[in-house]
Amino acid sequence: MTQVLDAAQAWLPRGMAEVERRLTELVGGHGEPLGGEATATLAAGGKRLRPMLVLLCAGEAPSEGSVRAATAVELVHMATLVHDDVLDDAPLRRGRPTVFARAGRPAATAVGDLLLSRAFAELATPAPDDRRRVGLLAAASVALARGELAQRRDAYENSISAERYLERCRLKTARLFECACLIGGEPDAAQSETLAGFGREIGLAFQLLDDVLDVAGPPERTGKARGTDLLDGTVTMPLILARERDRSLGALDLRGLDPAAAEEICERIAATGALDWVRADARARVEAAKAALRSAALDDQRRALLTMVADGVVERYS
Ligand code: IPE
Ligand code: IPE
Ligand code: MG
Ligand code: MG
Repeated sequence: MTQVLDAAQAWLPRGMAEVERRLTELVGGHGEPLGGEATATLAAGGKRLRPMLVLLCAGEAPSEGSVRAATAVELVHMATLVHDDVLDDAPLRRGRPTVFARAGRPAATAVGDLLLSRAFAELATPAPDDRRRVGLLAAASVALARGELAQRRDAYENSISAERYLERCRLKTARLFECACLIGGEPDAAQSETLAGFGREIGLAFQLLDDVLDVAGPPERTGKARGTDLLDGTVTMPLILARERDRSLGALDLRGLDPAAAEEICERIAATGALDWVRADARARVEAAKAALRSAALDDQRRALLTMVADGVVERYS
């Protein structure tokens, strides 16, 4: 993302700095421990990929409306990460202890709720485009919640299908990317479909690669231990494919694994070559998304920057 900022004209870094300023303002000052934990979550960083998509797809120099939309999308993202770490029982996020690990389930639930409500407060201005924006973000938030719950329902189910897994990823990850690509501006119908498709495909690729990173690591670059998905019972594409190549993986009972056993399963998944297959599938999705951009009515600078973002999805580690 730094490369994208470096390559862009001044409007993009300026817009992103404005998003950052608004995030800090919106999250602070809600008493302790709520405000402190929310501020620490913000300070831990993050790639700010989704607000960047909002500004790049908005189709105009960042207006107050598109900056607010970008800020709101990042707040929904942060909220769902805080809640996700409760659902996944996760010790580390962005290389630091999660709110859940630091302050417990009630605090993490409340911090996620705070961030989510700040997101919608950010969109509630008297501007004429607000209803559309609130509708888009609300629909993406509901999809996220459905995806996360579907994943919990499937936990430890070592026979779920690739289709079921992909549907969960569409809901929990791709829908917010799609929303980010639509919420900043007011695209016409044809342009909307192109941008929505771009967001969906890079979002799906992003989750596929996140699930590869969970198996492949390395922990010093991903900020979390290998096999954390296995430890909370989440069956992802690498295991689904590896299962077909090494039948003994399909017979595994995922309950009660310890970190060492999870790491050993990661090795066995990697040994089947499944990770390369998933990487290739994600790369193909990113290539298709980039190709679709060529027919979009975007200026050359925006198209080039969105292409860089798409490439960044494939190259990322954290
Ligand atoms: C993590 O998203 C959650 C997934 C959808 C896999 P990011 O990797 O974009 O999180 P941050 O904001 O950069 O930490
Ligand atoms: C993505 O799923 C989380 C959300 C979309 C809320 P993961 O559970 O794979 O995300 P990480 O790996 O914890 O960041
Ligand atoms: Mg998680
Ligand atoms: Mg993950």
